[in-house]
Amino acid sequence: MDKLLIQGGVPLKGEVRISGAKNAALPIMCAALLSRSPLRLTNVPHLRDVTTLLNLLGGMGVAVSLDEKLGLELDAGRLRSPFAPYEMVKTMRASILVLGPLLARCGEARVSLPGGCAIGQRPVDLHIKGLQAMGADIRVEHGYIIARAQRLKGARIFSDLVTVTGTENLMMAACLADGVTFIENAAREPEVVDLANCLKAMGANIEGAGSDVITIKGVSALAGAEHRIMPDRIETGTFLVAAAASGGSVRLRNTSARILEAVVDKLREAGAKITAEDDTIALHMEGPPTSVNVRTAPYPAFPTDMQAQFMALDCIARGTAVLTETIFENRFMHALELQRLGADIEISGNAAVVKGVAQLDGATVMATDLRASASLVIAGLVARGETVVERIYHLDRGYECIEEKLSQLGARIKRVH
Ligand code: UD1
Repeated sequence: MDKLLIQGGVPLKGEVRISGAKNAALPIMCAALLSRSPLRLTNVPHLRDVTTLLNLLGGMGVAVSLDEKLGLELDAGRLRSPFAPYEMVKTMRASILVLGPLLARCGEARVSLPGGCAIGQRPVDLHIKGLQAMGADIRVEHGYIIARAQRLKGARIFSDLVTVTGTENLMMAACLADGVTFIENAAREPEVVDLANCLKAMGANIEGAGSDVITIKGVSALAGAEHRIMPDRIETGTFLVAAAASGGSVRLRNTSARILEAVVDKLREAGAKITAEDDTIALHMEGPPTSVNVRTAPYPAFPTDMQAQFMALDCIARGTAVLTETIFENRFMHALELQRLGADIEISGNAAVVKGVAQLDGATVMATDLRASASLVIAGLVARGETVVERIYHLDRGYECIEEKLSQLGARIKRVH
């Protein structure tokens, strides 16, 4: 299994390009299932999760091709089988995003239940309830969701909780439903808006994406389209935090501060100077950061996917910070690993109290999930001596060429097999 070796203590300096967003690419790739004509995507990140989804879609009969500019074309003209097996879904929860499109297009779908994952239970009951409200007949048998519907019908769906992939699944299904669907208490994440823009380019009739009520007027068929995937706001935030924690100065290209205002505000509170232009963000940090409290909540509030990275920053900040996690019940696994580097963290329920220490010391640590891995890399970059991050396959799921990009910024980091 691959590991990362990091020699800490180098402030990050320089420029890197931010990749396309994983959490936009995955639902948008599933949107290809809704049409008989090809969907052409650019700025698709090269990630393990994208490969997993390509395999899943390929298994259903979607023809996948890459052009010379690394544009991805997905042609679901000849769908063979609306089936997502456990072996695929268990490695990537986002596979559940095939459920809505398959049911809408084929009238049936058999998709494995995702099961638990390292950061909590993460049920999919709201995806199922929403599709049932649209008239689907859904049973759960032998660990599989078995869904059928002649044609889905428009409905008013109120989601008890704000769910990102739930909103995306229902929005995709509603595009081909008979009548109008209202998704209330919808997720407002920029990735939902990116998906809606792609669906609109395919001919869907959607209003309100980015607000908490999305209205979708069903159409009888969607066409092919071309779409450029939005920049990854979590990758952007991760590089900004790494630069701030290391006392560096970086410029990130092909991204936008508008998609991560809550994160930029927190970094300014920590003492970073940030300037943003149309598609670049520059950060300059002098001296150690000041501790910042963080409370995760659905967009536009502070994202749960940035909590672990801020915990790493708070470990070496001046003062004491409280980080409160309100989205996932078990998302502090990284705290125990950060303690191995000398961090002072106390967990009490869904809050972590982090007292900043003057210095972390390198050690061997183990990545437990995607964003936890990023926090360990950040801690390794600021720790004295060598840090070994094990089980980095989690990182490869969501960060494109992370060690190359960090090396470009001067970090002493290498991958060993
Ligand atoms: C998405 C993101 C993930 C991010 C998360 C929260 C993708 C591919 N993944 O995950 O990176 O951390 O949003 O911003 O976009 N819930 C239910 N029942 C459901 C659905 C969700 O109880 O049917 C709960 C979850 O357990 C969780 C909360 O709702 O406590 C929010 O989860 P959700 O927004 O659905 O997360 P994902 O869409 O899986």
